[in-house]
Amino acid sequence: MKVLVSYYSDTGNTKKVADAIYDAIKESEKEICLAEEAPDLSDYDLIFCGFPVQSMGLPGKMENFVKGIPEGKNVAFFATHGSLRGGELAITAFFAALGLSKNLKVMGTFGSRGVVKQGIIDALLKKPEHRGWALEAQSAAGHPDAADLEDAKAFAAAMVTKARAK
Ligand SMILES: Cc1cc2nc3c(=O)[nH]c(=O)nc-3n(C[C@H](O)[C@H](O)[C@H](O)COP(=O)(O)O)c2cc1C
Repeated sequence: MKVLVSYYSDTGNTKKVADAIYDAIKESEKEICLAEEAPDLSDYDLIFCGFPVQSMGLPGKMENFVKGIPEGKNVAFFATHGSLRGGELAITAFFAALGLSKNLKVMGTFGSRGVVKQGIIDALLKKPEHRGWALEAQSAAGHPDAADLEDAKAFAAAMVTKARAK
């Protein structure tokens, strides 16, 4: 079993979750890398794909990465977002990821809140297309926190167990 944790992160929140996921993968060969620096994907039995939710969707770099995953691979998505965990504004991005995964086997998804700098929130609150998530993001300070990273580790272990059983 060979596992790749690939991610994209602008301000470090998604990287924290990626590192926690990587740490939690036991008894498997594993690698971690930025999505744009990924090695040959055909070698892996499970590919984690992590990204910050941007404008309710995936950043372009992660979209391109997912499109390049060979058919039939097991994948697991994780994201950080300013909006509330489990909320519609965060889940929309997972729907976009699932839409790109018609030829892949999606094992699961995990979302964690991620802090957004106050200056950015203030600017985006003035833009109607961003106001919804920016309002929710005001309470994301301190995330991902220790509890989020513990949940990410549990998610990682569950995804490995599920991929092994396939
Ligand atoms: C340009 C921009 C757009 C964003 N759009 C959303 C969004 O639509 N929904 C949301 O919940 N968070 C949104 N966020 C917040 C980020 O998803 C969040 O801060 C994330 O944790 C950043 O991860 P990173 O540090 O790995 O880049 C946005 C942030 C930026 C800077």
